[in-house]
Amino acid sequence: MKTAKEDLLHEHIAIEHALNILEEISQRIENNGDIDYSDINNFLEFLKEFADRCHHGKEEDFLFPALEKAGIRKEGGPIGVMLSEHAQGRNYIRQMQTSVVENTVDNQLFIQASGNYIRLLRSHIQKENNVLFPFIDTRLSVPEQKDLYDKFENHEEQVIGKGRHEELHSLLEKLAKKYLNQEGNTPH
Ligand SMILES: [Fe+2]
Ligand SMILES: [Fe+2]
Repeated sequence: MKTAKEDLLHEHIAIEHALNILEEISQRIENNGDIDYSDINNFLEFLKEFADRCHHGKEEDFLFPALEKAGIRKEGGPIGVMLSEHAQGRNYIRQMQTSVVENTVDNQLFIQASGNYIRLLRSHIQKENNVLFPFIDTRLSVPEQKDLYDKFENHEEQVIGKGRHEELHSLLEKLAKKYLNQEGNTPH
């Protein structure tokens, strides 16, 4: 069975995959290439629902409180940094959203906000993988980790639900095929 840490690591892979797609979309906008604006809106929905509400929700509502209880610092410590990066990421998503109105996009705003978002999230994921997540094994007992995993599953069901989860993954696959010329399954 998957552990709480594996669940989050797995979602990081899917988010990194999404960042590669975003990078390509942004590049095409910069080169005035052909962009389907509904792809951008769908993509922003993926970021909001999967990366933010589902994944960051698991971290903020369950992982961080459990690690804080186990002695990891929030104020002035790694948890506080992660929280402020999540908030910054939400700002960038809002800016990307603001840059798209119907079938037009404010190129400069979108390119700047997406670039900032990509850089932020890539480094955020590295910090979590290498600095914060190792504490899951060293500071939480096996039953605590199991409890965390159950809470993650429940959270996912509440905020996304199985059907929508599948839909978001196939959306990502469709976009990967279109923008990265990648066939086959995206990380699931
Ligand atoms: Fe995070
Ligand atoms: Fe994360």
